[in-house]
Amino acid sequence: MKTDLAGIRQEYTKGGLRESDLPEDPLLLFSKWLQEAIDAKVDEPTAVIVGTVSREGQPSTRTVLLKDLHDGKFIFYTNYESRKGRQLADNPHVSLSFVWHQLERQVHVEGIANKVPASESDQYFKTRPYKSRIGSRISPQSQPINNRMQLMRAFVKEAARWIGKEVERPEQWGGFAVTPHRIEFWQGRPNRLHDRFLFTLQTDGTWKRERLAP
Ligand SMILES: Cc1cc2nc3c(=O)[nH]c(=O)nc-3n(C[C@H](O)[C@H](O)[C@H](O)COP(=O)(O)O)c2cc1C
Repeated sequence: MKTDLAGIRQEYTKGGLRESDLPEDPLLLFSKWLQEAIDAKVDEPTAVIVGTVSREGQPSTRTVLLKDLHDGKFIFYTNYESRKGRQLADNPHVSLSFVWHQLERQVHVEGIANKVPASESDQYFKTRPYKSRIGSRISPQSQPINNRMQLMRAFVKEAARWIGKEVERPEQWGGFAVTPHRIEFWQGRPNRLHDRFLFTLQTDGTWKRERLAP
C-alpha cells in the first residue's frame, strides 16, 4: 500500500472529562453525550456497533441504530433469525460501542440482551416507513440469496399484498433491550493521555466509578 497509514495521526483537543462531571447514573451522562452528538449533527449519531459471541466463542460485530433508551436499557431492532439474533438467543451477553469521531468520544457498554415485549416491537414497527416495513417482511436477513432480483421480486409481491392495509410486523423481527452492567466513557485528549471513566454496576444497584489509564 502506497499511503503511509502509520503517518496518519490526529491530536484530540475537543474537550476533557473530569471526575466532577460524572453523575451517579451513567445513563444520564450517556443521554447527554448522545444529545450532544445529535446537536453536533454528526453522521448517524445513533449508530452503534453490536458485538455478539457464538456458541463456539467466536465474536462478531455489526452496526445497528439505537432506537430507544428507557428504564436504563438500550433498545435496537433487528431480525431475530439473523446471525446476531441467533447468537443472542444462544448467548445474551452483548457489547455496544458508540463512536462519535467528530466529538472525539466513544462509549462502550456491556450487558445482557433480551427481546422486548411484542407490543413494544409492534409500536415501533408502525412508525417505520412503509417500504422498510415491507422490506423487513421479505428479507431473510443474513441468509445467502441468489441475486438482488430475487429480493426485488419478493418486495414487489409483498408490497402488492399490503396495499390499503396496515403492514403487520413479522414475528421474526423485533427489538432487543440491553441491560448494562459496565459502561465506559472515553474522551480523547492531547498526547494520547485520554480521559476514561468506567462505571460498574454493584449488587446493591449503585454504580462504582473509576478512572482508567488511557
Ligand atoms: C449505519 C447502519 C445502520 C444499520 N442499522 C441496522 C439496524 O438497526 N438493524 C439491523 O438489523 N441491521 C442494521 N444494519 C445492518 C447490520 O450492520 C447488519 O448488516 C445486519 O443486521 C446483519 O447482521 P448479522 O448478519 O450479523 O446479523 C445497519 C448497518 C449500518 C451500516
